[in-house]
Amino acid sequence: MDFLKINGTKKIEGSIEITGAKNAALPLLAATILASNNVMISNLPNVVDIKTLLKLLRMLGATFDHKINDITINTTSLNKTQATYEIVKTMRASILVLGPLLARFGHCEVSLPGGCAIGQRPVDLHLKALEAMGAVIEIKAGYIKATAPNGLTGTTIVFDKITVGGTENIVMAAALAKGNTTIINAAKEPEVVQLCEVLRDAGVEITGIGTNTIEIVGNGGKLLEFKPFAVIPDRIEAGTYLCAGAITNSTLTITNVIPKHLEAMLVKLQEMGFGIQRGENSVTLTPANKIKPIHITTTEYPGFPTDMQAQFMALCTVADGVSIIDEKLFENRFMHVSELLRMGANITLNGTVATVVGTPNELFGTDVMATDLRASSALVLAALVAEGETKVHRIYHLDRGYDRLEEKLTLLGADIVREKE
Ligand code: UD1
Repeated sequence: MDFLKINGTKKIEGSIEITGAKNAALPLLAATILASNNVMISNLPNVVDIKTLLKLLRMLGATFDHKINDITINTTSLNKTQATYEIVKTMRASILVLGPLLARFGHCEVSLPGGCAIGQRPVDLHLKALEAMGAVIEIKAGYIKATAPNGLTGTTIVFDKITVGGTENIVMAAALAKGNTTIINAAKEPEVVQLCEVLRDAGVEITGIGTNTIEIVGNGGKLLEFKPFAVIPDRIEAGTYLCAGAITNSTLTITNVIPKHLEAMLVKLQEMGFGIQRGENSVTLTPANKIKPIHITTTEYPGFPTDMQAQFMALCTVADGVSIIDEKLFENRFMHVSELLRMGANITLNGTVATVVGTPNELFGTDVMATDLRASSALVLAALVAEGETKVHRIYHLDRGYDRLEEKLTLLGADIVREKE
């Protein structure tokens, strides 16, 4: 197993190019199950979660030509419809093949994702919506067994809770269903928007893209002809590097981003006293005179993303005063707190609310353990300013979603190396 060794208290400086969004690429790859042609995708992030989904697609019978950030994928040869436990246990997002497999083949089996470090994360809303479209779903021996012998039929779905993956699964299923589907209380995340746009470019009639009501005209089961496309930039990777600049109080530019997607984070950074210059495809952060504390409530897009909560908590530990962070989306997404405490942070938890008493220069280096993807990057951020050496263990979590993190931070001047346990 690898770990990261980081020597803290370094300033960083420079410019970092942001890669394609993992959370956009995953549903887009799943959507290729609906394709009649070779699908060409560029700006694909080179991270483990993408390799995991590609492994699953290969197990289902897909073939592809994959060169780091570009792929041409052919799913016309698909001859299996089971997503096994072996794959799903390593990545919950494998559930995204459920909608497209069912829509295309009329049956499929997907292992039930278990809980995960950040909470229970059920998939009941995905299943309820597919049932409303005519699917028969049985949970047996840890598998979701779904059938729709007569195909899926469009209907009106009202999500009780906004769900990113649920919206994506239903948009994909609805594209090949008979008749119209209306999704009410749909997710508006940029990753959902890109999925809808790619499907629209492939000939599916979709309206309300980017709003909370999406309407899809199903084509009755005809496979789609995809146009080549590039994955949108990763707003969470972008936000994480902005936090690296902020926690070290440095000047940093991120490029290949869509600033609009970062707005909730940019406003919080400005509230904390940092300078933010928005370019067309870039953002520059400049140092604060004094890093001020903030209040954050995580919520659905366009609100503050839960996937940036841990990184901002690390940042709040060096602010001058008390910050309040309310995690509204996942009940257990505070695993990084105990590790930040080991580094000398002053954080107390009360239900979903973390109170962070920030003090400049209070963190020190020690051994810490990554517990989930974004918690891992929070520990790396804290280590950049901790006095002495920090070892971040179990960084396989980090590798699921960050492309060459230590290489990029080294380019910015950080002292960070990957070593074997
Ligand atoms: C996606 C992102 C993840 C991000 C999350 C919220 C991907 C691959 N992952 O996860 O990084 O943190 O959105 O922005 O894009 N829920 C249910 N029942 C369901 C589905 C969801 O109760 O059937 C609950 C969840 O437990 C959670 C909330 O709804 O509390 C939002 O979850 P959801 O938007 O579905 O998250 P994911 O799509 O899994």
